[in-house]
Amino acid sequence: MHRAVLHSIPKPIAVVLCYPSNPTAYVANLDFFAEVVRFARKHDIYVLSDLAYAEIYYDDDPPPSVLQIEGAMDVAVEFSSLSKTFSMPGWRMGFAVGNEKLIAALSRVKSYLDYGAFTPIQVAAATALNDGEQAIEEIRDVYRVRRAAMVDSFGRAGWEIVPPQASMFAWVPIPERFQHLGSLEFAKLLIEEADVAVSPGLGFGENGDGHVRIALVENEQRIRQAARNLRRFLETCDETLQKVGPKSAQD
Ligand SMILES: Cc1ncc(COP(=O)(O)O)c(C=O)c1O
Repeated sequence: MHRAVLHSIPKPIAVVLCYPSNPTAYVANLDFFAEVVRFARKHDIYVLSDLAYAEIYYDDDPPPSVLQIEGAMDVAVEFSSLSKTFSMPGWRMGFAVGNEKLIAALSRVKSYLDYGAFTPIQVAAATALNDGEQAIEEIRDVYRVRRAAMVDSFGRAGWEIVPPQASMFAWVPIPERFQHLGSLEFAKLLIEEADVAVSPGLGFGENGDGHVRIALVENEQRIRQAARNLRRFLETCDETLQKVGPKSAQD
């Protein structure tokens, strides 16, 4: 962020944050947000904070909001979606709060793009936001169970996974003996040899190439099935690895 602001021409007008993060599941703390707000005010840039995963967390502390920081309203907006919190992906329903000028700009742009979502979806969203606390708890529990199943069954299959603190993702280093393949080849190998689909870290940027993202979008039984397939794959993979060259040899 420092480098972009100091060296880019023209200077960036905004920084986009996403914590809990997709893809890394990392949860930023208040000190981080305080530093971002201080920096944004100093350099006259806006902060756009995507809080889509704020309700999918697993310990007692909800992930913080940038708007908890004094002075954040001068520079920040925070937006969220009902897609994850209420399992409403595809319903195109979300909301934004924060800096008045930015919210006014968003309203104007939205008024050019569409006239609002289908009314029954708006009514469902209002109900979810007003009375949805129990639904949120239930959805959180669903992910909690899936996360536990993943950590337990993948671990027993030989792939240790550090439990994510939040979100529906685990951002996992590629096991040592597959590192040389890179995330794309490794993800392809998992599909072909273990019927398990993960997202290659490379898809999120070149620095992600040592990792894959596992999404908890299947139920507990399917996660355990994936782990059984993985175990079989890991037990027999030395043979397979001889057939698959390192990334550089195939370029
Ligand atoms: C970080 C993040 N923000 C926003 C969204 C999108 O939400 P919506 O379904 O409302 O477009 C997603 C969905 O994948 C996401 O991962």
